[in-house]
Amino acid sequence: LTLNIASSGGNQSSSLLYGFLYEDIYHSGDGGLYGEMLRNRGFQGSSSNGVASLLRSTDYWHPVGGVSLAIDTSSPTVSSSLPYQMRMDVPAGTTGTVGFYNEGFWGFDVDATKRYIASFYMRGNYSGTVDCYFHSNTTGQVLGSTSVSIDQTSSKGWVQSYSATFQPGHTGSDANNTFYFTFDGSQLAGQSVYFNVLSVFKQTFDNRYNGVRQDLADALHNMNGKYIRLPGGNNMEGIGAPYYWKWNETIGPLTGRPGRPGTWGDINTDGFGLLEMMQMAGDLGLEVILGIWAGLYLDGDVVSDANIQPYVDSVMNELEFLLGNASTTYGAQRAALGFPSPFTINWIEIGNEDYLNGGDSSYYAYRFMAFYNAIHAAYPSINLVSTINPNPVTTAGSSLDLHIYGNEHYFVSLFNTFDQASRQYPVFVNEYAATNTGSNSKGQVGAQTLGMSCAEAIFLLGCERNSDIILGSAYGAMIKNFNEAPDTVALIKHTANEVLYTISYYLQKLFADNMGTKTLPVTAVGAGFGPVYWSATANSSSTILKLVNYNGNTGSSNAVQVIVEGSSKTTATLISLTAPNSTSVNNLPSLGGEASTITTTTLTGSAGHFSVAFTGSYEI
Ligand code: AHR
Repeated sequence: LTLNIASSGGNQSSSLLYGFLYEDIYHSGDGGLYGEMLRNRGFQGSSSNGVASLLRSTDYWHPVGGVSLAIDTSSPTVSSSLPYQMRMDVPAGTTGTVGFYNEGFWGFDVDATKRYIASFYMRGNYSGTVDCYFHSNTTGQVLGSTSVSIDQTSSKGWVQSYSATFQPGHTGSDANNTFYFTFDGSQLAGQSVYFNVLSVFKQTFDNRYNGVRQDLADALHNMNGKYIRLPGGNNMEGIGAPYYWKWNETIGPLTGRPGRPGTWGDINTDGFGLLEMMQMAGDLGLEVILGIWAGLYLDGDVVSDANIQPYVDSVMNELEFLLGNASTTYGAQRAALGFPSPFTINWIEIGNEDYLNGGDSSYYAYRFMAFYNAIHAAYPSINLVSTINPNPVTTAGSSLDLHIYGNEHYFVSLFNTFDQASRQYPVFVNEYAATNTGSNSKGQVGAQTLGMSCAEAIFLLGCERNSDIILGSAYGAMIKNFNEAPDTVALIKHTANEVLYTISYYLQKLFADNMGTKTLPVTAVGAGFGPVYWSATANSSSTILKLVNYNGNTGSSNAVQVIVEGSSKTTATLISLTAPNSTSVNNLPSLGGEASTITTTTLTGSAGHFSVAFTGSYEI
């Protein structure tokens, strides 16, 4: 195979191309990106057995020293948003240490090089110290602790007690750690005391208050994506009425955020709310595609035409909150919450997957246009994204978000799917993933294999070749907690103290690191597409050829000959991603680590002529 890369004649490429979808599913927010380390901190509901519900419990909390813990609704509650609290009943005659500990989200990361802060709200009589500490279940050691002095009476109502920031004396050998709050039992004997919004944060990315996990933010940053769509996805839609994602219940003090049952089995605390998400996007340098709820619940329930206007009004309030200056009602609210400058939003996506669940007729009939017209009138420069082909008469200028999931073979077959696509509406593929190899039929269970990632790479080559209309792509899902069963595909997986970078992560990083600003035509001699697939682009400094070998030949006798027209270069950089075989998967560092490798070498050629040999039959 010889590939002749023309020096001109292609199309301009989208500058976004590689992005992210963020939503709080799979413990990607709570128990994931969101830096809160305590699980069930505000008693907002239950997520046992993979079903999120408003059934309140003391799950993940355990008594110490003979006390009992119970859910309680007695007045006063810490806020009307959080009407359930944890009551600790201390038996009469108690003299020793009492309290409780939290399991965390499958443990805790205890790192002696980082600062932590613990805090809690408490109601009741107590004069004494509260010892707050990490305990290792593996070694039995106290890894790090701090004390809070309290002199509190019931008449004071709820008091928020802060510990001083503390740095653990020891790093945990693993994540098998718990976090304790303990009290002098003699001071509490025969009494009940009440707790809510208990919290432990490790130092966050950019040291933000109520911010995100450093290691996971670093993972996103290093992938070099260009945009982020938030807040979802199915999770924005809500599992059913009335649980759609409500922006105004995710802002302000944590005691004012009621949380809700998320769609995929998790309770969302909404501690990682609208402002925190926008702040993270800004800190990561990402363009935001703001998803707005457009009247369709995941269970298919749809808001009627007659009732849609309040939801449109709410979105307009949200936009004023984000974009208005401090002289506007909602802009002032944002400023009062510590964000004086308006954010920038250039893209808004109306709804999510409105082609599913029978939602499409109402989307066309009134839902899309209700939101489109209101937003477009107030913010004419914002690009609006539809989730079904836009109506050509009324929505010129809007674009479309396609979501593509399927097996590995399907992704290979999509290579040329956009070659003949209409140029009328630009397209985002704001969710995609090869969800299985195809040999195990269906479902989304199991990790990404090298074969699946190569198939995704072939699909992305097709997007890049058509990047005049393909504006961007994002993997679904972005982050998943590794401990949450079953294992399914996600770009990054995490535990309390480790990050698993999937082969798909590395593929996207390679593509994002090596983006062109325009496509270049390629003439192939000797073979067509398959088993080798390609795409050529250029930016101001380089010509970039991306190749994928999908069950193809290896070695110098099968090398691809590359001719860069008009080039006199004698060297080129060859970056390659591969793994031992098509079924190889990456794992957590503690479970064997990565099967994939990235190698960078210098190719020597002559006057723009190079020979590229694959080392793996599946290689990018
Ligand atoms: O990627 C996860 C989910 O898949 C998204 O929430 C939803 O939009 C899609 O169906």
